[in-house]
Amino acid sequence: MQEILETIEVAQRELAQSPEDRLASARARGALSRAREAWGTLGPEGRARLSGPAGELRGLLDSVAEHRDPPPAPEELLERFGLPSFRPGQREAVTAALEGRDTLVVMPTGAGKSLCYQLPALATDRDPDRPLVVVVSPLIALMSDQWQRLQETEVRAVMLASGMAEGHNGRALMDIESGWAQLVLAAPERFGSRAFREVLGTRKVGLFVVDEAHCVAEWGHDFRPDYLRLQGAIATLGRPPVMAATATATPRVAREIAARLGLREWVSVSSGFDRPNLAFDVVSVEGKGAVARKRAALLHVLESEAGPPARPAIVYCGTRKDTEEVAGLIAGRGIATVAYHAGLPPRERRAAQEAFMGGEAEVVVATNAFGMGVDKADVRTVAHWAVPTSLEGYYQEAGRGGRDGEPARALLLASRMDLGRLIRFNTERQSSVEDVRAYTARLARRAREGVVEIAPGELDDTERVLLSIAERAGAAELEPGARGVLRVRLTGHLDGGAAYGAIKAAKDRGWESYRAIERFIANGSECRRGQILEHFGDSQRGTPRGRCCSVCDPDPELERALAAGAAKVASPRGKRGSPGGARGSALNGSTHHGSATLPVSVSPTDSVVAPAEPVDEGAYEQLREWRLGRAEGKPAFTVAANTVLEEILRTRPASLDALIEIRGIGPAFCEKHGESLLEVLAGLAGL
Ligand SMILES: Nc1ncnc2c1ncn2[C@@H]1O[C@H](COP(=O)(O)OP(=O)(O)OP(=O)(O)O)[C@@H](O)[C@H]1O
Ligand SMILES: [Mg+2]
Ligand SMILES: [Zn+2]
Repeated sequence: MQEILETIEVAQRELAQSPEDRLASARARGALSRAREAWGTLGPEGRARLSGPAGELRGLLDSVAEHRDPPPAPEELLERFGLPSFRPGQREAVTAALEGRDTLVVMPTGAGKSLCYQLPALATDRDPDRPLVVVVSPLIALMSDQWQRLQETEVRAVMLASGMAEGHNGRALMDIESGWAQLVLAAPERFGSRAFREVLGTRKVGLFVVDEAHCVAEWGHDFRPDYLRLQGAIATLGRPPVMAATATATPRVAREIAARLGLREWVSVSSGFDRPNLAFDVVSVEGKGAVARKRAALLHVLESEAGPPARPAIVYCGTRKDTEEVAGLIAGRGIATVAYHAGLPPRERRAAQEAFMGGEAEVVVATNAFGMGVDKADVRTVAHWAVPTSLEGYYQEAGRGGRDGEPARALLLASRMDLGRLIRFNTERQSSVEDVRAYTARLARRAREGVVEIAPGELDDTERVLLSIAERAGAAELEPGARGVLRVRLTGHLDGGAAYGAIKAAKDRGWESYRAIERFIANGSECRRGQILEHFGDSQRGTPRGRCCSVCDPDPELERALAAGAAKVASPRGKRGSPGGARGSALNGSTHHGSATLPVSVSPTDSVVAPAEPVDEGAYEQLREWRLGRAEGKPAFTVAANTVLEEILRTRPASLDALIEIRGIGPAFCEKHGESLLEVLAGLAGL
């Protein structure tokens, strides 16, 4: 106590003598923070003795600060950065950061979130404390890209990551400690390193930035357990102002980010979700010849020479196998193409990414493993070969097109057939309390003194979800370890109720995402841009700069290509197409120029309505009986309409994938009645 009082007294004297001396201010701040720490341990008497002197020092410090230069105007910083004007939202975010407020920055991919924290770093020179901007980012590729760009600016940035050249990280630490660095880029697991924490402790952190903040939101495919620990890291740094930045935040995810990072009275900055230079084509491909039509549409768009350029392009596929096949298809047309998925050895993956980034490959065909942090400005087309698992994921991927502000096109090839894959994905991911127990037991067998170390990238999707459920159920405590390792401490208890709640929440979210994307692909009558903006809770109307979407501005050329693709399948030659690259040539000549054999009026969103074939009466009766049983006293049509039963008998689906393809059958039906129906159908085999 006495010691603290003395420190305060010395600091006060020093500051009064030389108010301009930044060391004096720093010492005064240090004295105050020691007083704050001691406060909690003091009784009423001690507090009474401390509050007077501490209050005086605080007042003095504030009055000194008032006479210092005011923080620079955001425009001035922008100019030093070498840019002429702010993009929407950036000025607000920079201002909030300069004022020391917490901020949640939600801007679509490519909108310019980085600038929101890079400019405040430039302002730190004015502050005698030389505060540091700490930026946490999930991917090394992302960081190193940003770091390299910062080298060309006035911002003095360092980056800490595993795999850097010998001596790099040590120098970076020195640059932080010496006060030279204004901004440090680090992966979340860095906070597991004692050296890093100690060096940060020598600096005042003026702003703590969590980039790609949606990684903290569980159940998303970008979820990173180590992001959960950031709130703790922020606390140990003396709780500086926090800026969370993300491109994917529905209002609910935004709330989860704020809660998980412990944001306080934060300023919400959103530039709006619209990307005016993107045009959205959603093409629905159903039934016979669906794959051929997809191929025709894709090649048509990628090879299109009328209008703005179509490449470089990214083509997203749902499976690794499709990735290779579609890459073969495109390469078969003489377009330099690479495939990218998590199943490739790291070296090949890196080579593929570099080839695309560097321009040797014009097209990359990839799973969703490709993309976070890919800042290639001139991507002209982003195509989806299959329906993505969520609308957020779709928009984030589509948003990788046209980051330079020039026109770009998003093409979604949607088929109800894909919904089966999504349903399977959701069903497989569903876990029970038993699964969680079994998983923690498995971990426990590997544990040493109750702790298991999990290597980066070791967890698959299912395990990640199991682990986060275990954490919420109190069975596991997660903390980041060295070199990206996640340390899991097993407590030996599991709160079954909490686990159940977490499981239910995960399940509900999965189905909610599913329903949103299903609605989106099914709704071919409303503006695609409008539907997306509405999903993100953006009340603004979209303001396309060129073509809007396939609903507002249909593209007759694309429709012709689709029709021609379908015609190819009807012809015997089209049917013989072999899988892989050779398929491309089967389409040769028909995709590009369109074919005069089919009327142009065939719309890609029209599905062919075949005249109804009669169905077997006996089988039909049995299905109605089955339906009665499933209705549990409610009206039978609540299970399925008669026309749907008839269609089921016509197509005789043998799997959930085939079942979901039937019009009128949705995920809810599959979930509730799917298995039971398939059993009945199997029993009807002879009829
Ligand atoms: N005010 C501006 N004027 C001109 N160019 C800008 C401006 N702000 C940002 N940019 C440029 O826009 C591009 C995208 O910026 P940035 O990487 O910050 O996007 P982002 O919002 O972080 O996207 P992502 O979600 O993909 O990470 C960069 O090349 C950047 O230099
Ligand atoms: Mg970014
Ligand atoms: Zn539209």
